[in-house]
Amino acid sequence: MSAFLANHTRTHNCGALRATDAGAQVVLTGWVQSSRDHGKAVFIDLRDRDGKTQLVFDEAFDPKALEVGKDLRSEWCIGITGEVRSRGTMVNDKLSTGAIEVWVKSIEVFSKSDTPPFSIEDAIDTNEQVRLKYRYLDLRRPKLQKSLMTRSKITRLTRQYLGDNNFLEMETPFMVKYTPGGARNFLVPSRLNPGEFYALAESPQIFKQLLMVAGFERYFQIVRCFRDEDLRNDRQPEFTQIDIEMSFVNEAILQKMMEGLVTKLWKEILDVDIPAPFRRMTYAEAMAKYGVDKPDLRCDLELCEVTEACKTSAFKIFEDAIAAGGIVKALRIPANPALTRKILDGLPDFTKSFGAQCAWVKVGEGGVWTGGLKGFAESARDEVNRVAGAHSGDTILFVANKAKVANATAGALRLFIGDKLGLIRKGEWQFMWLIDPPLFEIEDGHVAAAHHPFTSPRAEDEELLETAPERVLARAYDLVLNGNEVGGGSIRIHRSDLQSRVFAALGISEEHRKAKFGFLLDAFKYGPPPHGGVAFGLDRLAMLISNSDSLRDVIAFPKTQKGSDLMTDCPTHVSQKQLDELFIQLKPDLPI
Ligand code: AMO
Repeated sequence: MSAFLANHTRTHNCGALRATDAGAQVVLTGWVQSSRDHGKAVFIDLRDRDGKTQLVFDEAFDPKALEVGKDLRSEWCIGITGEVRSRGTMVNDKLSTGAIEVWVKSIEVFSKSDTPPFSIEDAIDTNEQVRLKYRYLDLRRPKLQKSLMTRSKITRLTRQYLGDNNFLEMETPFMVKYTPGGARNFLVPSRLNPGEFYALAESPQIFKQLLMVAGFERYFQIVRCFRDEDLRNDRQPEFTQIDIEMSFVNEAILQKMMEGLVTKLWKEILDVDIPAPFRRMTYAEAMAKYGVDKPDLRCDLELCEVTEACKTSAFKIFEDAIAAGGIVKALRIPANPALTRKILDGLPDFTKSFGAQCAWVKVGEGGVWTGGLKGFAESARDEVNRVAGAHSGDTILFVANKAKVANATAGALRLFIGDKLGLIRKGEWQFMWLIDPPLFEIEDGHVAAAHHPFTSPRAEDEELLETAPERVLARAYDLVLNGNEVGGGSIRIHRSDLQSRVFAALGISEEHRKAKFGFLLDAFKYGPPPHGGVAFGLDRLAMLISNSDSLRDVIAFPKTQKGSDLMTDCPTHVSQKQLDELFIQLKPDLPI
């Protein structure tokens, strides 16, 4: 056992000491950040999760301590006792402890360190692969320590708020019955039931609804969810939800409760007052003005649709796109000297990845266009200018394509240009609820649930379920923050007859329903309460509130884009014996 720890208890963390502590006898522990040897004195920056403190090993003050101090190297883990002294006029403004230093009287080296593969500092450009392999070292960096501490604050405040509001924290199984629809599941073979598989829960959706049937009224869980999706910066295969369900509520009650949670997080973590109620925007408005269902409202640029005007433009590319069932979206960019020819010429490259092209014109005196769109009919041009609200000096961008592609492309262009021109206001928090989305996603005649099959249609749209499913809107809502979907939920169906109609619209046969969701349908025969819920992406909230660029910065042990953990080297092959136990035979032509 360490003699040091037997005799000393830490008195302060490394970010705590101030000028007023001068003269105090202290005990500190931490890691050596850096050392400077000046012969008769050695200066060490000692680091822990809370900050850094300068230590002084001085020959005249304590020669024995200096001897040890001279040997210290980066990332050695040590404990010291010492005296706090003022730095006088030599204050280091960059450190919270910059007004003092600690003169060391005794030291114990708890453990030495090999030279780390990269230095433990924020501004390093070490490749992420290396940092992920040595994740425990990367996690020592102040930025990541701060982000993960913020994440911990979020969960603490969430438990506090929901507990205060009578929510019960309850657990649900991770290993669940496979149900089709939604995200692709990870499968877990069952040794005890050869040939059968569990699915890892993509969310506790069905179970939280059953807890409502069971009468728990208010449930929450900070829960890991598993989805075998293609990964992006804002997606991980295992991520965490703040999962919530409430009985006897409508949208207004539930959203107000959630606004209370979110505003508390922002107030207590950032000391920022977020005005509530949050703005509500329909899906239709979001698609029309922003081209996406998660608009970033920090940017004032807006899209408009100019399909009608372009129908008679004599501009063949647009007319052909419209004839093929497409639309034309336009983005007006008010006169801006920063919008250079170089940026405009780079746009086709940007839109290529969306499978779309774009065109642009500069609006001159009298509404005359220069740039692209040669031969565009004058009357159509005047109409486009009117719809877009264009004035002399403005630029208009156009995307003509199928509605889905045109919206996605124009929506992305809006943010691309907004970013290039500095039109996205940094430091602003733009929350909004996206409401009234379609209940179904219909592509090539195939009907799928846009949210999940238990989402209630709006009462006024129920009659369209059989006749015009594409027009049925859902009692669903997403919480959007600065262009990120940070939460989603809905009021659920609690009547079996309505649930059956939705299943029928989804083309799920009676037989299939019984096999896959029979337990839920059975439960709904026993007096289910009206209920609704929401799930927040904890990782996304933590990423945004801590101003991080990637989910990987707020997850202690994240996976790469390929779903691997480089530190533990996972996933791996397993032995033939393990496969035999599970009655699993690998195909000979694995794409390795
Ligand atoms: P949904 O699928 O919209 O809803 O998920 C809720 C929130 O979880 C976050 N999220 C993710 N975060 C990181 N990586 C991922 N792969 C990932 N997928 C989703 C998002 C999203 O808004 N059961 C429903 C909720 C409900 O209806 O109550 C559900 O899971 O921030």
